Amino acid sequence: MCGIIGIISREPVSSRLVDALKRLEYRGYDSAGIATLEGGALGRRRAEGKLANLERHLAENPLPGTIGIGHTRWATHGAPTTRNAHPHATARVAVVHNGIIENFRELRAELSAEGYAFESDTDTETVAVHVTREMDRGAAPREAVAATLKRLEGAFSLAFLFKDEEGLLIGARKGSPLAVGEGKDEMFLGSDAIALSPFTDAVRYLEDGDSVILDHGRAAIYDFDGNEVVRPLRQAVGKAFYVDKGNHRHFMQKEIYEQPEVVGHTLGAFVDMTTGRTKIPQGQPLDFSSVRRMAISACGTGFYAGTVGRYYFERYARIACDLDVASEFRYRESPLGDVDLALFVSQSGETADTLASLRYAKAQGLKTASIVNVPESTIARESDLLLPTLAGPEIGVASTKAFTCQLTALAALSVRAGVDRGAVSAEEELELTGALAEAPRMINAALHLEERIEELAHDMANHRHALFLGRGFSYPLAMEGALKLKEISYIHAEGYAAGELKHGPIALIDETMPVVVIAPHDRVFEKTVSNMQEVAARGGKIILITDEKGAASGAVDAAETIVLPNMPEILTPIVYSVPLQLLAYHTAVHMGTDVDQPRNLAKSVTVE
Ligand code: F6R
Repeated sequence: MCGIIGIISREPVSSRLVDALKRLEYRGYDSAGIATLEGGALGRRRAEGKLANLERHLAENPLPGTIGIGHTRWATHGAPTTRNAHPHATARVAVVHNGIIENFRELRAELSAEGYAFESDTDTETVAVHVTREMDRGAAPREAVAATLKRLEGAFSLAFLFKDEEGLLIGARKGSPLAVGEGKDEMFLGSDAIALSPFTDAVRYLEDGDSVILDHGRAAIYDFDGNEVVRPLRQAVGKAFYVDKGNHRHFMQKEIYEQPEVVGHTLGAFVDMTTGRTKIPQGQPLDFSSVRRMAISACGTGFYAGTVGRYYFERYARIACDLDVASEFRYRESPLGDVDLALFVSQSGETADTLASLRYAKAQGLKTASIVNVPESTIARESDLLLPTLAGPEIGVASTKAFTCQLTALAALSVRAGVDRGAVSAEEELELTGALAEAPRMINAALHLEERIEELAHDMANHRHALFLGRGFSYPLAMEGALKLKEISYIHAEGYAAGELKHGPIALIDETMPVVVIAPHDRVFEKTVSNMQEVAARGGKIILITDEKGAASGAVDAAETIVLPNMPEILTPIVYSVPLQLLAYHTAVHMGTDVDQPRNLAKSVTVE
């Protein structure tokens, strides 16, 4: 996952490399570094930890030069130390890398046997040393890179900077994304268009197997077989969205508060808000009338959105849904013969396992559609149909607004599918889209509960474990609520189907165990109440999230109750997400963790 950047210019590049790395820090923040040419010689500055450490280092030890590369790291091979920070360099070449070189041990042994020394524990350094070996044997930089790329197994994007070559940057991509930006008498390489957005919005995306040779005025792109190719020039939209926290303390809080607006926008892509009729975005050809079975896959929060999606499609469209985490789907060898549509859910559109699953489904001859938040991403570009969420850039590592936008898209899409299949009448369609149109208002009502939830969060912060329970639509939310809490507060949390409690987890219940129960007054409310009684009988401390009807039923012995307005069932996953996000957020803030960049995580997971 790591972010990479390269700039070839006539102006000093150091501060622009750092600026781009700021936009890429969501991809990893274990260490950062840059390399430039100073009078032809390779100069490097690297620092462990957040980018701010590199900035401090550069303030004391500036790095001149008009050509350079930079990197922000999410550690895979080797501890997150300065020694393992990129760029990795020899006297001849410096390299930054995103991905994993799977055969690096074999290459390292081969190069070591020839007397080449290594100074880090990374897979990346093998690439630098291999290129050096080829150059020592007489190869020019371009040939040395081509010979090296042929030897590499795994997924990678790479950028190379060479001693004495003020007019040459080389990039290559296999598996991990890499974009080429074109400026005026300067060129750029970057992991995504957002990194390049302050410099240019004219971007070409490399395809798998491509390499690119950059000088100041031209980007020559070659495919895996070495043929020069042209990749389409696209206008990137990153610039319009430059990100700041506004009046909020963290990006996560800002993004939680953006939900009424972005959920409304996303709904507008799937529902004609004047007629109330559902639609497929941009009039794309997607007709569900002959879809009898779907396969949904995604990772993490996207997977929980997909789980709600399965409930939506089965309920409203009567379409059977297979559901997998993408890292399993891609290797499971599931017979897909009767699957009519494969659906993928991803905020970034770059998640390695989801992308591999998409490619697997395509190779099986399936029609593919993806719900993606980044329209220029690889998953968006490679899917037959792009179903966009309009959440805008999500910077906080813990997904919030992208999740509720994914739920919104899935809800509307399932209604559309129901209409196509005759499972939803025209009248029901209006009723359901009318309910969805209430989402922004209901989310606002949930946001008004922030103060009350903050109080509960202070208590949650005293615990080391928590359980989240729900049934039906609320079951995936229980898993998402637990994920949100554990990833930013480091409290161990589990989400369970409420009915599963007695099959094992109930053994964990005592007076010290907080149990968050998500229970709108829906068709399974009474069943969830029974499970709550089982918790209460064992002294468990119930935090109930319900609606006015549920609270008025008096059926529950909860220590704390959060009360949302009554709302139609289709809306509950979208709106009940908000108190769960706020609970995790305030617990983490109270505990003093790094909310926007929690330890060990990265926003875009481009390794499997
Ligand atoms: C958790 C979170 C992750 C992502 C997962 C998939 O808050 O954000 O679990 O959902 O890494 O990422 P995308 O959606 O970009 O494919």
